[in-house]
Amino acid sequence: MPLLEVDNLQKKYGDFVAVKGLSFSVEKEEIFGFLGPNGAGKTTTILMLATLLKPSGGGARISGHDVVLEPGRVRSVVGYVSQEIAVDEFLTARENLWLHGKLNHVSSKELIHRIDEASHMVGLDGRLDDLVGTYSGGMRKRLDLAEGLLHRPQLIFLDEPTLGLDIQTRRRIWDYIRKLRDEGLTVFLTTHYMEEADQLCDRVAIIDQGELKVLDAPQNLKAEMGGDVITVGLSDPSETVTRRAQEVFSRLEWISRTELHLQGVILISRNSDATLPRLMQIAAENDLEIISITLKHPSLDDVFLAHTGHDLRQEDGGADAFRRLKRGVRQARR
Ligand SMILES: Nc1ncnc2c1ncn2[C@@H]1O[C@H](COP(=O)(O)OP(=O)(O)OP(=O)(O)O)[C@@H](O)[C@H]1O
Ligand SMILES: [Mg+2]
Repeated sequence: MPLLEVDNLQKKYGDFVAVKGLSFSVEKEEIFGFLGPNGAGKTTTILMLATLLKPSGGGARISGHDVVLEPGRVRSVVGYVSQEIAVDEFLTARENLWLHGKLNHVSSKELIHRIDEASHMVGLDGRLDDLVGTYSGGMRKRLDLAEGLLHRPQLIFLDEPTLGLDIQTRRRIWDYIRKLRDEGLTVFLTTHYMEEADQLCDRVAIIDQGELKVLDAPQNLKAEMGGDVITVGLSDPSETVTRRAQEVFSRLEWISRTELHLQGVILISRNSDATLPRLMQIAAENDLEIISITLKHPSLDDVFLAHTGHDLRQEDGGADAFRRLKRGVRQARR
């Protein structure tokens, strides 16, 4: 049985539907990522799952307990670390942890061990008696994480665990999150960092405007793009010439898909070895002058674009070329 089962979960704020009927499940000891742009509904979903916000429809079960009907039981098995850092900088780290443990009804005797255990888990054991005011942003975030671990949850919700931190600190936090999983915890995190989803998560759900677009392991999502992405720029970017180039390249058996692009053509290649010189040669034979050519393995950025029609970082509607790519992915999945 999955540890978390979400069934048609919805949230409305007045007339605005922030979460539009999500259904998915999370297995035990997974690092599960919720990837989406600002306003996608990530925090709203986490708040409902952590019993801090009432769903407008649908529901969820964690370890068999209903989040709406049995909030007390759910809270005993989940930890929650909010998007904002919530530690008191006028106290020491130990005092923060003590306070948090007491608020969560952990007995004093137990708490002594658990503070040691949780702070060790996030690598703060040497700095416990320092004022949090002297901590760096990354250390505060780790202290926040330790608070979420004090009551030994089975599942921990981390809302943007590395938001605003530099890449080195982010990587350290990833290491701690992996360690939590190795200790038997299940981790549910939200992020709008592509590489965090890619490198840290076992499975990623892409959500956009309150809807689940796709859910799979990052490597499967990338593989589904169907090969490497080659972008060819032409000296004459007119429609007649780019269409002719598309026609020429699409005849090659190792090109699985072609798309028009502003300055040229995007090709999805099944076999990238030695394709670039071959493409140059074919272009020359067909009087097509190539002025730029790039080849890259598909990233989660490409996956995101293909499934949502826009870039994770841009709020605008995105390029038409990628809407077509999205249709291509749908067709490829059938
Ligand atoms: N209390 C509220 N009342 C009204 N609208 C809200 C409320 N909380 C969130 N929203 C709206 O619901 C949508 C989803 O918000 P949410 O905070 O869940 O997004 P998010 O994916 O966590 O975004 P971010 O990456 O910025 O944290 C947004 O459009 C937001 O403006
Ligand atoms: Mg949020």
